[in-house]
Amino acid sequence: MADLSTNFLGIRSPNPFWLASAPPTDKQYNVERAFRAGWGGVVWKTLGEDGPPVVNVNGPRYGAIHGADRRLLGLNNIELITDRPLEVNLREIAEVKKNWPDRAMIVSIMVPCEEQAWKAILPLVEATGADGIELNFGCPHGMSERGMGSAVGQVPEYIEMVARWCKQTTRMPVIVKLTPNITDIRYPARAAKKGGADAVSLINTISSIISVDLDSFSPTPSIDGRGSHGGYCGPAVKPIALNMVAEIARDAETRGLPISGIGGITTWRDAAEYIALGCGTVQVCTAAMTYGFKIVQEMIDGLSAYMDEKGFRTIEDFRGRAVPNVTDWQYLNLNYIAKARIDQDACIKCGRCHIACEDTSHQAITSMVDGKRHFEVIDAECVGCNLCVSVCPVENCITMEEMVAGTDPRTGRPVSPDYANWTTHPNNPMARVAAE
Ligand SMILES: Cc1cc2nc3c(=O)[nH]c(=O)nc-3n(C[C@H](O)[C@H](O)[C@H](O)COP(=O)(O)O)c2cc1C
Ligand code: SF4
Ligand code: SF4
Repeated sequence: MADLSTNFLGIRSPNPFWLASAPPTDKQYNVERAFRAGWGGVVWKTLGEDGPPVVNVNGPRYGAIHGADRRLLGLNNIELITDRPLEVNLREIAEVKKNWPDRAMIVSIMVPCEEQAWKAILPLVEATGADGIELNFGCPHGMSERGMGSAVGQVPEYIEMVARWCKQTTRMPVIVKLTPNITDIRYPARAAKKGGADAVSLINTISSIISVDLDSFSPTPSIDGRGSHGGYCGPAVKPIALNMVAEIARDAETRGLPISGIGGITTWRDAAEYIALGCGTVQVCTAAMTYGFKIVQEMIDGLSAYMDEKGFRTIEDFRGRAVPNVTDWQYLNLNYIAKARIDQDACIKCGRCHIACEDTSHQAITSMVDGKRHFEVIDAECVGCNLCVSVCPVENCITMEEMVAGTDPRTGRPVSPDYANWTTHPNNPMARVAAE
């Protein structure tokens, strides 16, 4: 039986599944329910400065994108950090940590970008017995307009400065939570490392307007006829987050920096992908808000079964395994050739592959053969682009098959077993210059 326990910055948890800082972790009631359901740890909903708490809107704060089956694909929110008094949160954090000593308790913090403000709150959090802190440099709405959240996360120098203040003040490990609302994620990650942060977590939400009401002409969620940009998360953001995680994992300046992966994690597979890209733990928000805390059981069972099947005893056995396979486009093997294959028994003859390939790709799928509706790949036209696989409604009905020998009927050239990339390709003007 696989061992799912993790040791992230010295913080132990029975499994890598943490709840991200958000409504599921806003109070003792929720967090204890989550721990009972099996979550390995939580990042408590972001705390602000002592004093009157922030105020949330009193109307809709969420909006969503759904698939055709009404499954939630993306969630948008205009919620702020915790709107409960600091002292109530601190008391509850201490109690939960005492009741659940084997679970990871990280506290998310966001206070103004002034040294005194950080130095004032850190001892209070430390006194709760929490295992670590996460600096929220990510919220793209409400708090950023007040000079916090992503307003800090978008300026690497500020990240470095605040991380350093925290490291100088506290014994607790410091995780910097990054905003995806930036052009190149490597710069804030490097700044966090330079400031002494022990780890980064990503992503926070993506700046977004989820929709516009075409009767009232208000962006949604609408508060008395007006809307504001919010933060986007859920399954739709996973690809963006995975890429950012990979960028940090393979960057020479941040390689080896511990990462807690966040963004769209809904199944054990999503989590395993983050771990394969180097993450030591993963965090979940939208999936818990959509399906409830018990979803973690499926994640635990699924990950455990996968690890058993692969012979991985611990998370460390496969953590980061995919990182060396992430490369830049110019290093992809241009001699690799694949063709689409249609399983005629599985095909329901809907014609989507044909129309996609015919109208927008390479006219490589038949629609009629001998006067009958029949969908088959024409190898002499197929460039192996994978569009038909992507649009076919039947899973695994179309697959891509590698050509390992013979002649490619499309180009008339023999299939080469050698690796050759763009950097040395004769059509690359830079390669020609280098050769001369
Ligand atoms: C309603 C809501 C409130 C959130 N509040 C916070 C917060 O207070 N602090 C924070 O760091 N992230 C906050 N987040 C972001 C999540 O922690 C997480 O980074 C993001 O939702 C991506 O994960 P997901 O795709 O699993 O939801 C919030 C997200 C949602 C949906
Ligand atoms: S892989 Fe691309 S080119 Fe080949 S059949 Fe499918 S859509 Fe057409
Ligand atoms: S899209 Fe899939 S199911 Fe539909 S015709 Fe093509 S192969 Fe058959």
